[in-house]
Amino acid sequence: IADAAIPDAVLAWYDRHRRVLPWRAPPGAAADPYAVWLSEIMLQQTTVAAVKSYFSAFLARWPNVDALARAPAEEVMRQWAGLGYYSRARNLHACAKTVSAKFGGQFPDEEAALRALPGLGPYTAAAVAAIAFCRKAAVVDGNVERVLSRLYAIEAPPPAGKRLIYARAEALTPAERPGDYAQAMMDLGATICTPKSPACAICPLNGACAAFRIGDPARFPVKAAK
Ligand code: ADE
Repeated sequence: IADAAIPDAVLAWYDRHRRVLPWRAPPGAAADPYAVWLSEIMLQQTTVAAVKSYFSAFLARWPNVDALARAPAEEVMRQWAGLGYYSRARNLHACAKTVSAKFGGQFPDEEAALRALPGLGPYTAAAVAAIAFCRKAAVVDGNVERVLSRLYAIEAPPPAGKRLIYARAEALTPAERPGDYAQAMMDLGATICTPKSPACAICPLNGACAAFRIGDPARFPVKAAK
């Protein structure tokens, strides 16, 4: 299949196989930017399985960004305990205060403005822009990197390889349903295009995948030379 057909194939697969996760809005429904942001901060260095219960507890206790902004710092840190990488919790609280005080409790809806908030790097800003605000932003985490490195059999090690992957991600990201597309690519990486023994036989992109054609998908992504 041609590049132009890839986003539709990915979205069709997502419509059948999407993982039901507590921060995902039901199909067709608008996502809550606060919930999307909270989940993406938690997921930065932590698995989906570990994040689920923390996400639900935070949302139950502080249902919106103003409530989180008003919470005492010690309470936020206590609620975060066990998730690790505690600078995320400090940035989370700082970001909530900024959004509450400077933006009237509404997250900015553009990638560049999101990027300026505490704790939002390029990945998180793109993810929130795409998932919460339907912006055409290229969302590239480790899972997506692996999928794209295989799809295009990218031989260059990082950092050049990463730039090539990002360029491919930008070229593929669709204007329609960019948030679903981003999450579909993550699900594909997490469930099918796994690091070892990927399940190419059931992959919706096997007909487009250069690494599958070569016959050695697990060789990608190519690691940095030692
Ligand atoms: N990892 C990071 N963000 C994610 C999301 N929205 N869905 C699934 N896995 C993720």
